Amino acid sequence: MQDKILDFLKLKQEISSGHPEELSCANITHQLHTRFIGRKVYYFQKVASTMDVAMQWVTKGACEGTLVLAETQTKGRGRLGRIWSSPKYKGIYLSLILKPKILPSEAPIFTFLASVSICEAIKEAAELEARIKWPNDILIKNKKVGGILTELDAEMDAVRFLVIGIGLNVNNDMASIVSGATSLKEQKKEEINRVEVLRELLRRIEANYLAFQKDGPRVILEKWRDYNITLGKRVRVSFHQEHIEGEALDIDIDGALLVRNDSGLIHKFTAGDVTFCR
Ligand code: BTN
Repeated sequence: MQDKILDFLKLKQEISSGHPEELSCANITHQLHTRFIGRKVYYFQKVASTMDVAMQWVTKGACEGTLVLAETQTKGRGRLGRIWSSPKYKGIYLSLILKPKILPSEAPIFTFLASVSICEAIKEAAELEARIKWPNDILIKNKKVGGILTELDAEMDAVRFLVIGIGLNVNNDMASIVSGATSLKEQKKEEINRVEVLRELLRRIEANYLAFQKDGPRVILEKWRDYNITLGKRVRVSFHQEHIEGEALDIDIDGALLVRNDSGLIHKFTAGDVTFCR
């Protein structure tokens, strides 16, 4: 309780002095209470992309749970080579190194695990209801607030490591947000404590990861279904030159989206973009 009051007073002081709270190692690890996620943090004011930094560290032997954080990115990237806008001190830009014992085909479950963890953290730390749009978008009131980029290094039958990249718009002002997107601040109508959101996110990722290790993907898939806004809707899925319209039926154990078209044929998408049809 006393810690929460101190955190609150610190945030108020930082806001009134115009100096944002930093996501520094000390701020993050204080009161984190995780076993391995975020116990080792590499923190930067500015990088090209936290994905590249994490890739460099993992090839040098960085351990599971190592976190790479930056206050801004000059070349933040999203899925399919898109740009991830990363204004300084406004959002959370992180890459997390994981080394699960899984097949390459099972890797998408970690995008789901991250999605669920983000929704849980937003609920707990900002009291907002976030939802998941397949495959990797986090939305609030149908506007994108965050995204996940999962990159991996694997042999045919084993993943060597995963790097989970998460971008979350926290205190971004409307002027700096691309159309169709939002931030926690815009939704909550008040400044959000980024440190608190990040700590909660790391706790949730660890809890969900431990649940996955114990019980397999079932729990993650169940939570994902609860948070998703894709299933049951009429959607248009685009992948390369292919466009299919139909009903989003379910996800399968490998994270693929199953869509039934109007002829009753079921298409399975392992990647793609979803738009909702009327
Ligand atoms: C998407 O919505 O397409 C995924 C966006 C992922 C952005 C994050 S920000 C931190 C990490 N570093 C990057 O360059 N990208 C991810």
